[in-house]
Amino acid sequence: IMNTWHLISSLFLSTFFCITLSSCALTPHISTNPVEKSWQKKNILVIGHRGASGYRPEHTIESYALAIEMGADYIEPDLVMTKDGVLIARHENEISETTDAEIKFPKRKRTKMIDGLSVTGWFTEDLTLKEIKTLKAHERLSSRGQAFNVQFQIPTFAEILAFVQKKNKETNRVIGIYPEVKHPAYFSSIGLALEPALAKELKRVGLNKLEDPVIIQSFELASLRNLKSLVDCKLVYLLDENVRVSASELKDWSTFLYGIGPYKRLIIPAGPNGELLPATSLVSDAHKVGLKVHPYTFRSDAQYLAKEYKGDPLAEYRQFYALGVDGVFSDFPDQAVQARD
Ligand code: G3P
Ligand code: CA
Repeated sequence: IMNTWHLISSLFLSTFFCITLSSCALTPHISTNPVEKSWQKKNILVIGHRGASGYRPEHTIESYALAIEMGADYIEPDLVMTKDGVLIARHENEISETTDAEIKFPKRKRTKMIDGLSVTGWFTEDLTLKEIKTLKAHERLSSRGQAFNVQFQIPTFAEILAFVQKKNKETNRVIGIYPEVKHPAYFSSIGLALEPALAKELKRVGLNKLEDPVIIQSFELASLRNLKSLVDCKLVYLLDENVRVSASELKDWSTFLYGIGPYKRLIIPAGPNGELLPATSLVSDAHKVGLKVHPYTFRSDAQYLAKEYKGDPLAEYRQFYALGVDGVFSDFPDQAVQARD
């Protein structure tokens, strides 16, 4: 009787699981069904994107602290360099969108070619760390809260490492660090290579081994290959919206990468009017060759959330979790955790 019961229940469960997965690829929805929630048994990483940047000015210790408090497994510093060769956390080397550089250094405005684009503004590589430390961060997006503007400093990577180590001790957790090297070819071309500086910092604090809670990411494969020769850390290749990935490329990348970080529309594409389309096979294709998949960027703001989710950001997380992703970069890590747990 028990064997018959097990057979019937497993047939029912596997049939239901297939139907649930294929329908959820088409229509996001929330379900409390225990089968659909099978992703909860997996270690899906919540990566605090630029900290908890939905709530605090990005790339500040205060933003990382909030992400950790909200349960993020990893925090994500984007890294650029100062004139005197110090790694600091900024999303780009032109910093007028996220700091008061324009007010503090009115005469330091420049125009440069960065990765084939003409960019005008204030650049980290033109300022010493002492000068950078006089700046204060502000919110990038006018649609987000401005209450914390011009209060927080720009942190160095060394300060971020020390902060995370302190938090690990305080909370008895293992909080990971997921640094991204920004414009690495450009920085190398001006004599401020990011990769050896990053490797040196990680080695200094003993976080340069494969098993350490560190994942390094880049949009530039050459930079990742360079990093592979400098550290044993896990490496993730970021894929932007224009990338079309072949099976042979995935196979090639799997020989030295831990995973890929695709723009989320490479997994659930959108049509010309922003409408969501059926999921691609990217997650399973990557898994077939042993690569993890950490899509970016999950944002709860009304202007970024697809209308199919009906104003519920958790529905988007649940859809991606059910598709088998191994982690998500989120500006709102509390909601990524809530949807998972
Ligand atoms: O690193 C993942 C994601 O952050 C990539 O996009 O532009 O926000 O750094 P970006
Ligand atoms: Ca990033």
